[in-house]
Amino acid sequence: MKGIILAGGRGTRLYPITRGISKQLFPVYDKPMIYHPITTLMFAGVTEFLVISTPQALPMFKELLGNGQNWGLDFQYAEQSEPRGLADAFLIGESFIGNDPCALALGDNIFHGTGLGEQLQPINAANQGATIFGYTVADPSSFGIVEQGPDGKILSIEEKPKAPKSNLAVTGLYFYNNDVVSIAKTIKPSKRGELEITSINNAYLENGALDLKVLPRGTAWLDAGTFDGLLQAAEYVHAVEKRTGSKIACPEEVAFHLGLIDSEQVLKLAADHKNEYGDYLERLVR
Ligand code: DAU
Repeated sequence: MKGIILAGGRGTRLYPITRGISKQLFPVYDKPMIYHPITTLMFAGVTEFLVISTPQALPMFKELLGNGQNWGLDFQYAEQSEPRGLADAFLIGESFIGNDPCALALGDNIFHGTGLGEQLQPINAANQGATIFGYTVADPSSFGIVEQGPDGKILSIEEKPKAPKSNLAVTGLYFYNNDVVSIAKTIKPSKRGELEITSINNAYLENGALDLKVLPRGTAWLDAGTFDGLLQAAEYVHAVEKRTGSKIACPEEVAFHLGLIDSEQVLKLAADHKNEYGDYLERLVR
């Protein structure tokens, strides 16, 4: 399965702080934000990534992530000149995806919870239709919202509804079979002028091929795309890391545990960070 990280957009909800720098490069306490979606997809078994961002920000992502070899991964890059919408990822990524299934992770979505990896891996292995993840939120009009029938069956998904029919939001992590590329070519821009991911999900729903998994209450899902969201994400990561002594979304650690890199490589990477982050990596293998 291929993985796309969508890390473009204008970030206007975070102006002025995003005027000169891409949101997904911001620190979430001790790591750049993009480490979160990368490690989420690594847990699902993805090793080949396409990072999509603006022409201005892409060189900075290349500087940060390189070709991925250090972590046993493969990173490719593609520009999105205008924020045409989330579904544009599959048009930009068509040749990268080839004949494979593809997962999409939004660059500002942070997931954390025990057993998340075990939940994601079978989806990758099954490679059927589409799988999306629901999460109960207090402010449903800011998200894609699932409308369910009395039996829990999905009736529709509405993008940022004015009168939300539920509190179940669709999170920014999506798994699709290869049909996603042809479906992306058929959808039309919404009233706000974007190729909506919700249109893709509704197309799968119409074909009877959409699976919704509701994330358990113990899972944290944070959208770091607002002032409060950004601060809350940093506070969350800080609190959990200090309390447990383990890091959240540390790609070197995840790569080591998945057997993508060996202890020698971890020590090499540790030597590159002359700080607490490097000490942590060293402790992992000593
Ligand atoms: O966070 C989950 C929500 O993400 C879903 O519930 C919604 O259905 C989905 O539409 C999306 O809503 P947002 O309003 O949060 O999307 P936003 O425009 O903030 O974009 C999400 C990320 O994707 C953000 O990191 C910027 C990036 N992006 C966005 C657009 C529109 C791009 O890279 N290119 C784009 O064209």
